Amino acid sequence: MKLFLYLSFGIILVIAIAIVSGAHNISATEKHWGITEKTIGWIRDSLIEVHAKNLTVPQLDDRAVLSNGFKHYHAMCTECHLAPGFKATEISMGLYPQPPAFHERTPMTEQTIRSDTIRKYFWVIKNGLKMTGMPAWGLSHDDQSIWSMAAFVVKLHGMSAAEYESLVRTIEVDHSHDRGHDDHTH
Ligand code: HEC
Repeated sequence: MKLFLYLSFGIILVIAIAIVSGAHNISATEKHWGITEKTIGWIRDSLIEVHAKNLTVPQLDDRAVLSNGFKHYHAMCTECHLAPGFKATEISMGLYPQPPAFHERTPMTEQTIRSDTIRKYFWVIKNGLKMTGMPAWGLSHDDQSIWSMAAFVVKLHGMSAAEYESLVRTIEVDHSHDRGHDDHTH
């Protein structure tokens, strides 16, 4: 018991010295040690897993995912997570931890793995992640929109620039449509 107290005290002292002396740098350009990064990653993934475990993935209409999920992603997420064919942005470059580029992930073919991933993505999109820069979109969006975003992010895995471009064109068509409507009323 005594040894444990001495050890804890020693560790706290070392941390305090590292902070006061500036030996530990809080700058986002100073990466964690490999082992620290692995530990944080493991803790993050385990916590997401635990929180997402009991969520039920609703029936997701493929067209809604590709229109609604895509539109939200295109408008709100590409600045950080990019999209197929996009170059790094000023924000994405400077963030640490780095936001993942989902289209660089391997496509998932197995249904259970896909819905497991949609569940975890849903939880993160809704609640955000502390001290990473990932916002909680649940404060401004209903669950249905968030499910469609989560399912769209899974669809992004392995997506080509041409496929993404064709989705972008669907919005442009929509917009010219809207403008057409406006013209009628004026
Ligand atoms: C301001 C930058 C920023 C914006 C905007 C942003 N994210 Fe993130 N996102 C991050 C960062 C940083 C992480 C955390 C990476 C880490 O922990 O390693 C993250 C993590 C995630 C994860 C978990 C990643 C994983 O490895 O499983 C998902 C899913 C996600 N974001 C989806 C989205 C979606 C969808 C949007 C748009 C609605 C969005 N993000 C908008 C910065 C951002």
